[in-house]
Amino acid sequence: MKNMAERFLIAMVIFILATLLIIYNSSSGNDSISYRGQFVYSVLSHAPSNLTKWVTKDGYIPVTGNKTMKLRCGLCALITSSSHLLGSEIGSEIDETECTIRMNNAPTMGYERDIGNKTTLRVIAHSSVYKVMKKPQEFLNRSQDTVFVFWGPPKKMQNRRGGTFRLIQRVGSAFPNLSSYIVSPKRMQQFDDLFHRETGQDRKKSHTWLSTGWFTMVIAIELCNSVHVYGMVPPTHCSKPQHKRMPYHYYEPKGPDECSTFLGNEKVKKGSHHRFITEKDVFAHWAKLYNIVFSHPSW
Ligand SMILES: *[C@@H]1O[C@H](CO)[C@@H](O)[C@H](O)[C@H]1NC(C)=O
Ligand SMILES: *[C@@H]1O[C@H](CO)[C@@H](O)[C@H](O)[C@H]1NC(C)=O
Ligand SMILES: *[C@@H]1O[C@H](CO)[C@@H](O)[C@H](O)[C@H]1NC(C)=O
Ligand SMILES: *[C@@H]1O[C@H](CO)[C@@H](O)[C@H](O)[C@H]1NC(C)=O
Ligand SMILES: *[C@@H]1O[C@H](CO)[C@@H](O)[C@H](O)[C@H]1NC(C)=O
Ligand SMILES: *[C@@H]1O[C@H](CO)[C@@H](O)[C@H](O)[C@H]1NC(C)=O
Repeated sequence: MKNMAERFLIAMVIFILATLLIIYNSSSGNDSISYRGQFVYSVLSHAPSNLTKWVTKDGYIPVTGNKTMKLRCGLCALITSSSHLLGSEIGSEIDETECTIRMNNAPTMGYERDIGNKTTLRVIAHSSVYKVMKKPQEFLNRSQDTVFVFWGPPKKMQNRRGGTFRLIQRVGSAFPNLSSYIVSPKRMQQFDDLFHRETGQDRKKSHTWLSTGWFTMVIAIELCNSVHVYGMVPPTHCSKPQHKRMPYHYYEPKGPDECSTFLGNEKVKKGSHHRFITEKDVFAHWAKLYNIVFSHPSW
């Protein structure tokens, strides 16, 4: 009995000390935040609010060797994966752009007439790495000039024993001439902070995953003097009653409908989801600050 009381007392003392420590820390003016207990970054080091001033060398870790990301472009074409470009026959116009940016496993083979066949930069989500690797002929073998950027939760991307990390490494050694980079943990935090700053919502608390579209847009603004976005609908598109059913991806004609995907994700409160429409509201705002134009549809 005495033993129990002693243990209880010790537990209480530890609890009080820990509480005091937390209070002391939060009042000491050091704004450090813990990133899943692994990485600690000071808010003071956060990226400037002008996206063109993000420091490129801090953002991308080479998959092999110690290359630094040097890509800089005047005009960029950001080709979305939406089906709005099907039948547009603007492939050669897109290919004439200095740099072309594509996402995940969106193929060019077989769709050249509408979306072109040049890829300067491909931004790939951790969840799409496998889909890209499954088709080396399409994405890797012909892509000696393509820069690959992989984004994902730092815990997953930095785990040297994890499947995603090993898959990316394997590609790095099989195709040593590819330029592949992983978004650094510090930059991932900056993406979260940016979402918070632009929407007033904490990404994690609001159960939101940023979409590959969000990462790609920010990277495009960082690397390009101006950005021409092809195939992205405006934020109001899906709330208009007359919107048509369109495949969410041009390469999955029988796949999910675009607006159902956007609206479904936006509404859901439970579980983690993308906020495609919220993100587009932010893009509309950025279009007033940076050189961004939207076509197919134009807005
Ligand atoms: C805040 O704390 C972190 C780690 O605990 C430290 O690296 C950093 O220098 C501190 N910043 C300030 C302004 O005291
Ligand atoms: C990294 O790159 C620098 C200059 O590009 C070079 O001097 C250095 O030897 C390289 N280090 C390794 C480990 O490859
Ligand atoms: C695809 O690329 C080649 C150059 O590699 C070019 O000659 C051709 O016109 C392109 N095709 C289309 C449909 O854009
Ligand atoms: C790339 O493709 C060619 C034929 O299309 C093939 O001969 C070559 O082995 C491939 N290279 C790699 C590294 O897969
Ligand atoms: C990689 O690039 C070098 C120099 O550009 C070239 O000599 C070599 O053949 C390339 N290797 C592969 C596997 O394409
Ligand atoms: C961002 O910085 C660039 C370069 O200094 C400047 O030209 C541009 O006007 C700035 N944009 C915004 C939105 O602050």
